[in-house]
Amino acid sequence: MPESAYWTIVLIDDEADIREVMTMSLQDSGYRVLDASNGEAGIRLCHQEKPEIVITDIRMPGMDGIQVLKTIKTSLPDTEVIVATAFGDIDVAIRALQLDASDFITKPISDEALFLALRRAQQRYTSRKKLLDYTALLEQQVVNQARILHQDKLMSMGRLAASVVHEINNPLSGILNYIRLMIRMLGKGQPIEFHKDKFLQYLDVVERETARCSGIVSNLLTFSRRTEPVVHPVNIPDMIDRSVMLIRHKLDISHIRLTVSVKPDIPVVNGDMNQLQQCILNLILNAIDAMPDGGSLTIRAGMGPDNAGVAIQIQDTGTGIAESDLPHIFEPFFSTKEAGYGVGLGLSTVFGIMERHGGRVDVISRTGQGATFTLWLPMSAG
Ligand SMILES: Nc1ncnc2c1ncn2[C@@H]1O[C@H](COP(=O)(O)OP(=O)(O)OP(=O)(O)O)[C@@H](O)[C@H]1O
Ligand SMILES: [Mg+2]
Repeated sequence: MPESAYWTIVLIDDEADIREVMTMSLQDSGYRVLDASNGEAGIRLCHQEKPEIVITDIRMPGMDGIQVLKTIKTSLPDTEVIVATAFGDIDVAIRALQLDASDFITKPISDEALFLALRRAQQRYTSRKKLLDYTALLEQQVVNQARILHQDKLMSMGRLAASVVHEINNPLSGILNYIRLMIRMLGKGQPIEFHKDKFLQYLDVVERETARCSGIVSNLLTFSRRTEPVVHPVNIPDMIDRSVMLIRHKLDISHIRLTVSVKPDIPVVNGDMNQLQQCILNLILNAIDAMPDGGSLTIRAGMGPDNAGVAIQIQDTGTGIAESDLPHIFEPFFSTKEAGYGVGLGLSTVFGIMERHGGRVDVISRTGQGATFTLWLPMSAG
């Protein structure tokens, strides 16, 4: 019986003859058997040897079989326990099963009943192990998924950062140049009054450019910080400005012409600014990816039909979306991009955020004819 080769059994019985006979019979079938003459010794043995299966007599002086069962099920819950009861002792057998014994056999024990009970105990043990492994696997998958989500966020952060570095670099070199110029002028030894007008003019530029840098940095910080959704009144034109500020350089180097058209009457909506901004950025990043040879990006915002809410539209003149892909683009991990370029979480994130805001996201697109994504937000979003 090769399947018994790796199973260890602890046998607890106060009668030496019974232990001897059963041990022989079990060892002949390939089991590893350890025996104990009372409950306490049996439990000690179990803690040392961690057997898969315990066979315990019920009626023993001192600690009886029911107490052995209870103790083992508490401290070593994976262990299968088979109890041996006297013939006709059906109440005890039922009590044992209620306490999660895997089976009971009646004395005098026949080999047939013993091996049948063992086989059932082994099956129970194996399926429980499988279930545990499966649960562990599921947990691992959830952890992985969370990690991928976080990685994706880091990746889009990386893409943004590349754009932001350039955004900040330009004003910084401007500031540096003006400061160097002023230092050189001062070095000529003329009185400060002499340069006053020029200095005021330069300092004005320095102030403006510094403010721009600081705006970009704080914008990036708000976007990257992991926060719970916070609902506040959101000024849509401001939000679009901030998004464009983060992405402008990327549009420039991708030869994409940007048109922003925001209706002046657009009302303030309630929502989570960071999350809504993330939607706009994800849509713009997708539009950029869809126009590798340049094109036009149009961002519009205005009232939706019936003035029931606000619509923000992001339209590109890129590759468009194949009809067969359209039903899938909002699914997590759906991406047509090369490995390393897209995880397929951008649009599913947008979908989730819009849903949480009581709004929705729509798309109109055909292969070769660009794509138009529309975010619909109810006035009382969130
Ligand atoms: N503006 C668009 N033009 C053409 N196809 C698009 C556009 N936006 C999305 N798609 C298609 O939908 C797919 C899913 O987009 P989604 O933003 O969810 O993932 P991704 O851009 O591939 O990866 P990620 O956003 O995680 O970096 C894209 O791979 C692309 O095929
Ligand atoms: Mg994307």
